[in-house]
Amino acid sequence: MMRACLVPEFGDPEVMTIGEAPRPYIANSDTLVRVKAAGVNPIDSKTRAGKGTAPFIDRMPWIPGGEFAGVVEQAPYELAPFQPGDEVFGMVLTPHYSGAYAEYVSTPFMSLARKPRSLDWASAGATPLAALTAWAGVVEAGRVYSGQRILIHAGAGGVGHFAVQLAHFYGAHVIATASERNLDFLRELGADEVIDYRSQRFEDAISGPVDVVLDLIGNVKDRTGTRSLKALRDGGLVINVPTGSWPEMHEEAAAENRDLRASSLKLSPEGRILTTIAQLIDQGDLVTHLDASFPLEEAVDAHLLLDEGRTRGKLALEL
Ligand SMILES: NC(=O)c1ccc[n+]([C@@H]2O[C@H](COP(=O)([O-])OP(=O)(O)OC[C@H]3O[C@@H](n4cnc5c(N)ncnc54)[C@H](OP(=O)(O)O)[C@@H]3O)[C@@H](O)[C@H]2O)c1
Repeated sequence: MMRACLVPEFGDPEVMTIGEAPRPYIANSDTLVRVKAAGVNPIDSKTRAGKGTAPFIDRMPWIPGGEFAGVVEQAPYELAPFQPGDEVFGMVLTPHYSGAYAEYVSTPFMSLARKPRSLDWASAGATPLAALTAWAGVVEAGRVYSGQRILIHAGAGGVGHFAVQLAHFYGAHVIATASERNLDFLRELGADEVIDYRSQRFEDAISGPVDVVLDLIGNVKDRTGTRSLKALRDGGLVINVPTGSWPEMHEEAAAENRDLRASSLKLSPEGRILTTIAQLIDQGDLVTHLDASFPLEEAVDAHLLLDEGRTRGKLALEL
């Protein structure tokens, strides 16, 4: 058995308790990792509340947590890439990116990479899910390259702060939105223009049309998705990351009659990309900003803070 944060029934943060759960087994290419820290993400909270991936959870109690850093306890075979004692970070794949708020996780080694040497455990554990999502948006779906202009909503949050840095690293002109208290933070990350979404309408404040909008808000707040269409150049692309928050996006993009493209986005938990991300971190081109870290026993406090929606960078739980 192992110590874990348990959700016996979906509900408010207070439903979470610390208890015992069966230690995960390893099969096929799974690697067993002793968790040092787990990242805290909005999908953990959405699912805990009965939304997110809750409809697909078929067994309670459920253990939240899609990302972690830790030490390999058991490898699937002698020559597997990660061996006992190796320090790794990565994602848990089943069921639906959960299980990392626990002493042990089991995950295929294709979703692991060596932990960046320059990060402490909490920062490393809070990196994979948000950094891989930012990579999927900026590099894979957005195909952002030097000279392009990108608008990133919620640039100060978990995904956003990695996206601002990646777009800057690849030479784009980066415009990012946040509230006033985070504008200097955005500039430090490499944003060329910053917009306080509370005092200005971003579509009026930007210096000119953009090639790509990475929308980490969607239409759940202030019709951010719909209004983003106004910020795009003809033929531009809007990427909706909180998928499902803007079901009409294709119709609305087509109705502009400017060849606008709209796409949702799902992160891909690939260890090989995570290896590149670790290199960028260790060479100083990508920084994980840890807003706060809590002991596992204080997971309720971490979720209460997360649910305020004001996180600068990331939150973590330490074991
Ligand atoms: N599709 C996928 O695979 C995938 C993967 C990861 C995440 N997601 C989703 O993407 C979304 C973002 O995730 P996250 O981890 O980055 O969230 P997060 O860290 O909780 O975001 C918090 C940030 O949002 C900013 N914010 C709040 N309202 C805003 C607004 N109206 N305009 C601009 N910024 C605003 C806050 O800045 P201020 O404090 O300055 O207001 C804060 O820094 C979530 O819905 C998450 O579930 C999807």
